Amino acid sequence: MASIVIAPSILSADFARLGEEVRAIADASANWIHVDVMDGHFVPNLTIGPAVVRALRPHTSLPFDVHLMIAPYDPYLAAFAEAGADLIAIHAEAGPHLHRGLQAIRALGKRAGVVLNPATPASSVQYALDLVDLILVMSVNPGFGGQAFIPSAVEKVAELRAMIGQRPIRLEVDGGINAETAALVAAAGADTLVAGSAVFQGGPNHYAGNIAAIRSAA
Ligand code: DX5
Ligand code: ZN
Repeated sequence: MASIVIAPSILSADFARLGEEVRAIADASANWIHVDVMDGHFVPNLTIGPAVVRALRPHTSLPFDVHLMIAPYDPYLAAFAEAGADLIAIHAEAGPHLHRGLQAIRALGKRAGVVLNPATPASSVQYALDLVDLILVMSVNPGFGGQAFIPSAVEKVAELRAMIGQRPIRLEVDGGINAETAALVAAAGADTLVAGSAVFQGGPNHYAGNIAAIRSAA
């Protein structure tokens, strides 16, 4: 299997110092930067828009993994692509035309991801696999950092790993990931791990150790 990618979620960073925080996690061996975009409609919280992605872009050359928790997503795909997203992931539950949304992301020259909420079955992505570069399994209900891991995500990861077969699709898990849960989802077939609170806890002097602990557990 491909080597593990660790994508810290900047939702748990200090928003007053986001540029510095992004540089600090890059220096601490993060592989991607996970950006949680929330609209106060699809999820009950508001966070980051394209202007912040654009402002962060010069701070690192690491890929920006942009997780859109917004509905509708179509009007904003181009703005996030132009702002510097490398991968744009849309929720299967956020619109009636997942296939069209994935085509639109690919047409913008970006990698396309599908996100599945905890109650959404693996089969919801089955007929779109040819348009997908990443599947993101939510192991919490989206909207907030620091929630408890939902164990049924492990079974869903295993099901998706079998469905993916030899396709070049990364399988990511997001929510409640720490060293303990990272081991569970990696054993089930996840190769990409988002972590917010477990990476940022303790402050900048702990980022490298926190990331290393997750990576070695996986
Ligand atoms: C939740 C976000 C996650 C969240 C993860 O809606 O998509 O990326 O920030 O935070 P932790 O790792 O603290 O669960
Ligand atoms: Zn996320």
